[in-house]
Amino acid sequence: MVLKNFIVFEGIDGSGTSTQINKIVESNPNKFYATAEPTQNETGKFLRRMLCGEFKVDEKTASYLFAADRCEHIFGKNGIEDLIKQGKTVVSDRYFFSSLAYQSVSCGKELPRLLNSPFPLPEYLFYFKIDPEISLKRVDTRNGKKEIYEKIDIQKKIAKLYDEVIEEYQQKSQENGMKIITIDASKSIDQVFSEIKKHLN
Ligand code: TYD
Repeated sequence: MVLKNFIVFEGIDGSGTSTQINKIVESNPNKFYATAEPTQNETGKFLRRMLCGEFKVDEKTASYLFAADRCEHIFGKNGIEDLIKQGKTVVSDRYFFSSLAYQSVSCGKELPRLLNSPFPLPEYLFYFKIDPEISLKRVDTRNGKKEIYEKIDIQKKIAKLYDEVIEEYQQKSQENGMKIITIDASKSIDQVFSEIKKHLN
């Protein structure tokens, strides 16, 4: 079952999801509400510290932490469910598909799937597909200090896992009703934006 009026953007680091979410919200601020994972909640702030390398945890622990942050994001007070009930169309920069790709690199596919099975599917999933060599160059020019997953060998593995996850959900989309749109994220900001708008209209 899908959660209506819930849209998710997914892709490897530097694929341009944040830029496009900002553009979507700017196009209609009364309708669209932007959010992201890791969240702005305390759970998300803790994860950001981990992503910066401030402390290390086992990747299995990371899977639990991302899932806990997501639980608050969806079901917590003023979370995604609440916002949708208030009439918003919520667009999230990342959701559990990130966990299925990123955390599966080191701890296998099983645990991320198990931990994320209670969460509803979005109505739309936009997958920003891009060559990791190109996206990591974007990351390089954007920020000084890299986060723990922003390394080419890891990004290549994540990109492959994303492809597999998207393919798997594509096959199930007839039964679950989630609409998956794969975007060529190597295109210009304006080209990607008009592609997204075409689908949302
Ligand atoms: P990102 O979305 O790139 O945000 P920012 O641009 O603000 O740094 O960073 C979040 C990082 O967290 C990214 O490398 C992906 C990772 N991540 C996971 O590993 N698992 C998850 O479940 C989520 C939501 C994110």
